[in-house]
Order: sequence, then C-alpha cells, then structure tokens
Amino acid sequence: MDETPPSADGVAGQDDAEKQDSTGQDSEGQGDALPAMVNLRWYNHAEAAATAKFTVVARRLPALILQALRLAWRAGPADTVTTLTFNLLSGVFTALGLLATTGVLEALLAAGPTPGRVRAALPSLLLVAGAGVARALLSAAAGWAEARLTPRVQQRVEMELYEVTSRIDLASYDDSEFYEALTRAEGPGSTAASEVVSSTVDMVTGATSFAAAAIAITTLHPVLLPLLLVTAVPEAWAAVRVARSRYLMMLETIAPRYHSVILGNLMSTPTYAGDLRSYTMQDLLLGQYRRVAGIYRDAQLALARRNVVTRLAGNAGTGVANGVVYAALGVLLAAAWLPLAVAGTAVLAIRTSRGALSELIHAVNSCYEEGLYLTDYTTFLRIARDHLPAPAAAEVPCRFAEITVENVSFTYPGADRPALQDVSLTLPAGQIVALVGENGSGKSTLAKLLAHLYTPSAGHIRWDGVDLATVDPQSVRSHIAVIAQDHARWPMTARANIVLAEDGDPDRLGRAAESAGTDEVVADLPRGWETMLDRRFKNSHQLSGGQWQRVAVSRGFYRDAPLIICDEPSSNLDARAEHTLFEAIRRHMHGRTVILITHRLANIRHADVIHVLENGRVTASGTHDGLMAAEGTYRDLYLLQAAAYENAGDTEEPAHRL
Ligand SMILES: Nc1ncnc2c1ncn2[C@@H]1O[C@H](COP(=O)(O)OP(=O)(O)OP(=O)(O)O)[C@@H](O)[C@H]1O
Ligand SMILES: [Mg+2]
Repeated sequence: MDETPPSADGVAGQDDAEKQDSTGQDSEGQGDALPAMVNLRWYNHAEAAATAKFTVVARRLPALILQALRLAWRAGPADTVTTLTFNLLSGVFTALGLLATTGVLEALLAAGPTPGRVRAALPSLLLVAGAGVARALLSAAAGWAEARLTPRVQQRVEMELYEVTSRIDLASYDDSEFYEALTRAEGPGSTAASEVVSSTVDMVTGATSFAAAAIAITTLHPVLLPLLLVTAVPEAWAAVRVARSRYLMMLETIAPRYHSVILGNLMSTPTYAGDLRSYTMQDLLLGQYRRVAGIYRDAQLALARRNVVTRLAGNAGTGVANGVVYAALGVLLAAAWLPLAVAGTAVLAIRTSRGALSELIHAVNSCYEEGLYLTDYTTFLRIARDHLPAPAAAEVPCRFAEITVENVSFTYPGADRPALQDVSLTLPAGQIVALVGENGSGKSTLAKLLAHLYTPSAGHIRWDGVDLATVDPQSVRSHIAVIAQDHARWPMTARANIVLAEDGDPDRLGRAAESAGTDEVVADLPRGWETMLDRRFKNSHQLSGGQWQRVAVSRGFYRDAPLIICDEPSSNLDARAEHTLFEAIRRHMHGRTVILITHRLANIRHADVIHVLENGRVTASGTHDGLMAAEGTYRDLYLLQAAAYENAGDTEEPAHRL
C-alpha cells in the first residue's frame, strides 16, 4: 500500500508529523496525534526486527530453518525435496560453468591464429553453455516446485488455525488478550508461514550459488578466496543496511497506514454508512483521515530520503571494495602469480558470488523478520489447544427426563464480578420454562450454559445425572436447538440459513418455515429459497431485522432437538408473527423442553414455571399466578407492562400467550 491518501489541503498533518516519533506516538506526550483506535501491537515485532543484532539473527536462524522445512515437508514432501535438490544441483552447475570458463579464456588468450584459438575454446565453450542450460532448467524446475509448495503451506497453516478457532471454548473470545493473539496469528502470523518457507528456499539457493563460486574460485587459486570474502564484507554490510532501512520504513508507516485503512473502512462500508450520515460524522472522520494521511505521507518521504542515502553509501562501499579486489587482482597479474585466464574467471566468479550473497542476506533478513510473525502463529496454536474441550468419550442420553442446574456460578474471562451466582434449577422434560429479569440479570448467560456453550465456573449441569462437563460437547450440542438473542445472519441462501447443510429435508423445512412466518418472507424473495441473504453478493436480498429473526426461529425449529432454547425469539417480530411463533412453540412441543427468555411477560403467562433472575441469582420461581400473588420483581414488571396496555385504552390482554 504505497498510495498517498487524498489530502484536501495538501499540507495538513505537516506539523503533526514533525511531532511523531518512530512508533507513531506523539513524542510530546499529548497522545492525540493519532486517534485512540490505532492498533500498535504489531510494533512489538517490528522493533525487535529493526534492532536485531546479527548474533541474535544467527542464533535463531537454525530453528527457523528447521521449522520452515517441517512446514514445507508436511505441505508437500515431493516438492520440498525437488526444490532443495534442484537448487543444490543448480549450484553444482554454476561451479562447473565457472571452471569451464577458465578453459575458454585460456584457449582464447593463447598464442596463435584466431580461428585456431576459437576452435580450441569450443569444447570448454560447449561445457559453459551446457552448464548454463542445465542451471537454467534446474532453477526453473526448483522455482516451479517452490511455487507449488508455498500456497499449500499457506493453506495448511490457515486450515490448522481455523480448525482450532472453530472449536475452542466460546469463552476464549471473551478474553481480550487471547482474542488479540488470535487476530495476530490470523493476520501477519499465518501469512508469514509461506514467506518463511520461501526465504528458506532462497537462502539455500543463495548459499549454494555462493558456495559454488567460492569453491570454483579456490580451485582456480587459493589466494582468490580471501579476495572474494573481501568483496563480501561491504556487500553484506550494504545489504543489511538496505534491508533494515526498508524495514524501518515499513515500521514507521505501519501505524498511520493501518489507521487510514480503519478510517477508510468507516467511510466506505455499509455497516457504518447509516450512522455516519445520521450523526453527520463525515467532517470528523475526513479530518482524522486527512491528519493520518499527512503523517503517513511525510513519514514516507523522510524515509525514502534516508533510504536513498543508505543505498548510496552501500553502493559506494561496494564500489570501493570492488576497486580493492580489482587492484589486488592487478597486482597478482603483474607479479605473474595469476594467469590472465584465471583472473578473468575470478572476475566472473566474484560477480556471481555478489548476486548470490545479496540473495542470501536478503533471505536471512526476511526469514528472521517473518519468523517473528510465525512465532505469533505457533504460540497462538499452542495456547489455543489448551482452550479446546477435553476429549470425552461419554455421550448424553438422546432424551432426558430432567436437567438439573446445581449451584452454578459463572464469571466471564476478565470480568470482575460473576454474571451468575449459585443458581440451582430443575428443568423437567416436556415443560416450558421461562427465564425473566431485567437487562443484564444473567438470562442469556444461563441459556448459554444450558446450551453447553460455556462451562460453569462452579457447580454442575446434569442431564439425568450425567454431568455435562464429562461429555463430548458436540454430542450435547447436537441435542439442543438454540435461537440466540444475537443470532447469526449467515451469508448463505435462505434454505441454507435454516437447514445449515448442503441439502435438507423439504417437509421439515416447510414446517419450520411455517412456524415463524418465514414461508411468507421466502415467498417474496426473488429466487425463493435459493436467494442469497447477504448484500455483499450479487443478486442477493437484504432481509429486515424481524425477517431475519423469523429465519433464526425457523432454524431452531428445523433442528429436531429435545431441548429448545429461545432467547428473545420475538423481540423484532410484528404482532402477527409473534402470535404465530408462540402458537408454534405450543404445537412444536411434543415432549420437548423449551427454555424461553422474553421481556414480553404476557407471552409466558402459561409457562409451566417461571424463574426470575436478579443480578445473576434466581430470586423467585413459580407459576404466573404464584408469582403474581407475591410481592416481587415479576409482579412489578408485569403490572408495569399491563399498565401500558391499560393506559392505551386497551384493557384486553394480548391474545398470543402460552
Ligand atoms: N461476553 C461477555 N463478556 C463479559 N461480560 C458479559 C458478556 N456477556 C454478558 N456479560 C455480562 O454478564 C451480565 C449478564 O449478561 P446477560 O447477557 O446474561 O444478561 P441478560 O439477562 O441476558 O440481559 P438482556 O435482557 O439485556 O439480554 C451482564 O452484566 C453483562 O454485562
Ligand atoms: Mg440476554
């Protein structure tokens, strides 16, 4: 991303940029040069890489190479072997070609008529050409094998990551540190894997070519090797400087760049489009964007200048080193310690080695940099595996007579107080059990514990005496239908949103759709059941909030489960759909147990039992009549709602209740 973001006045941000230090923070401590949402976590590694000493890099390198080879081997053993072997063989031909060059030069520089010298040079010339062709073919084959390998490495690490992230405890997502580690592993972490493999292959290629040139040159004359190493010193110095300078440029622009992406998204994605206009946030966001863009632009210019100087210094150093080497070669020639043909080959070998060395140093640098991000990935996978449910062979019974909640408490990760405290309930099969209470009283949390999405911090939930903590979570979940308060809006077709599979049972789908009025919604869709319900796709359709809720309810009804958990299933439904839904819940029962959470208390008047939650505790339980007979929260809330109807002159109770 090298584009300079648009800037209305062209100079905005200049002053701000001057105050920035290399981390993008306000160096005068005012802290507002970048708005607070900027994410600086990637700096950890950026700084580590930019300040890394050669010894640190060298120490870490063997482990990284091993890790890269393991990744490559697991993704494609044949391609790993091919790319490494062919690169090594290509090095052998580089050495052969160089040695054969001496023969060519010797023949051409010998005394005698030109045609004769050319004829004498022919065999060596053929050898040089043959070695060149072989090297080119081997390099191409090695490149092809590498090109096949890296996408597979990438796919493998992504699959491994998503296999874990889709199975870890739901509570892991509530732990902000864990979630941050996940985003790091998913972003730069997983893309680093293929980069590390590529760099390792480049390292092998560079090292092989360098070794080939070194061997060839030593064979020609032992004194030439130290000369080669003399050219290597400034070359290495220059390459490290250039790589580090480039890396610093990336480091210094990452925060404003990242921030401008966030701001750009806020101004261009549908999620924020409505609020942005309603609250006239254009000027605020555009102003921030202009400021960040200015910082980004100025940082880039300053670093580009620094980069040019570094390159100049590097090239000058290389030039001086070359001069020294050529002068030394001249001395050797003048003293007749070196034949002219050997000196010519030495010049070629030095040039070959210089290219190889550049590649090698760049590969080492990149392997180290990317290795830091790869460590994020591997560390996350190690931590995440501890968040996977423990393997459990036991299964819950398909049907149960009773679910018991025994002294259950639950605290969300990082929360300073429990969301549920010492809750004990019994849910007999075939009953409708309602949970009521004010916002934040713990109803959804209890529902999620009953759905086995969270594990209690203390206490037990048992199905016919079988503790859910001891059974395979998948087996429990497959017996539960959850209509969640924050249900998912899957970017799939209407059919797939309910059956959650490639195909499905049409009769069951019909019944499930009828129960929540989803059939009416689907009848109006341009492609019926096959309509894609996500506006990011072509020919898709966007449902309203209530229509989505109907789909979510039908999804719950489609699953033939003995336990149905309905968390605010009618909060967005119109009166007719709500009526249909509660009728359907009654009809759908057939011995199933229903846990119903709703703020519309008229809907649960005839529930078998109502539990009232307050501050994470069950403070009252009973039937509607029983709870109304006593003073308490339920009675207060119910009368408040009833009064709203009476005040509106509607003394009739709502018709749709259980
Ligand atoms: N993912 C979470 N991480 C941390 N705390 C949470 C999380 N979800 C809920 N809480 C907290 O737990 C408490 C209970 O929340 P819960 O969602 O169970 O309430 P609720 O009774 O369902 O409320 P509502 O009627 O608004 O749906 C609240 O204090 C809430 O802030
Ligand atoms: Mg809730």
